[in-house]
Amino acid sequence: ARTVRRGDDGVLTVGGIPVTSLAEEFGTPAYILDETDFRARCRAWADAFGKDADVFYAGKAFLSRAVVRWLHEEGLNLDVCSGGELATALSAGMPAERIAFHGNNKSTEEIRRAVEAGVGRIVLDSFQEIVRVAHAAQALGRRQRVQIRVTVGVEAHTHEFIATAHEDQKFGIALAGGQAAEAVRRALQLDGLELVGIHSHIGSQIFDMAGFEVAARRVVSLLAEVRDEHGVELPEIDLGGGLGIAYTSEDDPREPHEIAKALGEIVTRECEAAGLATPRISVEPGRAIAGPAAFTVYEVGTVKPLEGLRTYVSVDGGMSDNIRTALYDAEYSVALVSRSSEAEPMLCRVVGKHCESGDIVVRDAFLPADLAPGDLIAVPATGAYCRSMASNYNHALRPPVVAVADGAARVIVRRETEEDLLRLDVG
Ligand code: LLP
Repeated sequence: ARTVRRGDDGVLTVGGIPVTSLAEEFGTPAYILDETDFRARCRAWADAFGKDADVFYAGKAFLSRAVVRWLHEEGLNLDVCSGGELATALSAGMPAERIAFHGNNKSTEEIRRAVEAGVGRIVLDSFQEIVRVAHAAQALGRRQRVQIRVTVGVEAHTHEFIATAHEDQKFGIALAGGQAAEAVRRALQLDGLELVGIHSHIGSQIFDMAGFEVAARRVVSLLAEVRDEHGVELPEIDLGGGLGIAYTSEDDPREPHEIAKALGEIVTRECEAAGLATPRISVEPGRAIAGPAAFTVYEVGTVKPLEGLRTYVSVDGGMSDNIRTALYDAEYSVALVSRSSEAEPMLCRVVGKHCESGDIVVRDAFLPADLAPGDLIAVPATGAYCRSMASNYNHALRPPVVAVADGAARVIVRRETEEDLLRLDVG
């Protein structure tokens, strides 16, 4: 459903609009979000999981009010993990019952606001939080629907996963050592809580389904344990997000229908074996929906050939609009998008304008040898965890998000201005 094309003149177009016009109108750097593609990805997930399952878009990947409206219109639910994301969701009209509230250290005030708003579920992350949410609900005279986030001893990243007996990280309550079973026991005792299910999230940028399968098996065995001990069959399981996307041509991501089929089969099989009714499944894709739907367009500034090494191509943004290369050694591709070129490819490193040598956007890339200041280059797959992790380092002004659909472009998050920066500086 991507509407990105390359014209005969070498100019990239999105939804029929040349990137050169977008750069002229909105400036650079800018995140260009293909709304048609974003919505199509929402629908692909919703269709793959069908009416007996729920898809929660993970707002941490990228959230704005326009995005909330698209999710609402396309029938998705929303996972938020802070008061700020909750406020954005509610202010754009997402019905509270379609919101799930996550986080390993929700504040008392955030919990109160979420309960008061009537969010569909709060995902409990610790023993202390079980009590905090129960208190908040009771104080408001509510019974809050909750899930318990368990750590299943599976950690998955990209092509590999590790299944271990215990984990050393901050999220969730361990299945190991009977901790999760104890959490269920406590949650079932508290009047303010309606425990509806178990939640598991095993990692991000995952290509291999094996980790999800181990997680699903372990969650179902907890459901069986709960049934045996309390005579209660919890009706929901959430298997989190984490589906990987293609950042470079070497990545080969799974499609939503493959995930839906694999998860559906494993949960059904395990539940049948345990004599349980199949629970309602939900998932929380963030990157897989937002990531491929946007690219960043930069203007080339200084081009500095280093004899025998490579050419450093400096752009007008950098680690302030995409921290992922510096932070995770993430790989990206890049292309000249404002014209065609017959010049030989040259080995480049695309770097930003920040005062830091780790300020790299694309570590190794080939760009035409006639690349010159003023050319536009684009880095694909920057829709997730780029604008949402952007910073003002060096007092950089965070770039706008421009949504393009059906030949029309509009700003959905505007570019920051120096006035925005100075407004916060009240000393
Ligand atoms: N659900 C939960 C509970 C999560 O913690 C996350 C991501 C998701 C869903 C969505 O995962 P996704 O489908 O987007 O992989 N900043 C990192 C990614 C951090 C992911 C954190 N949790 C990056 O840029 O790669």
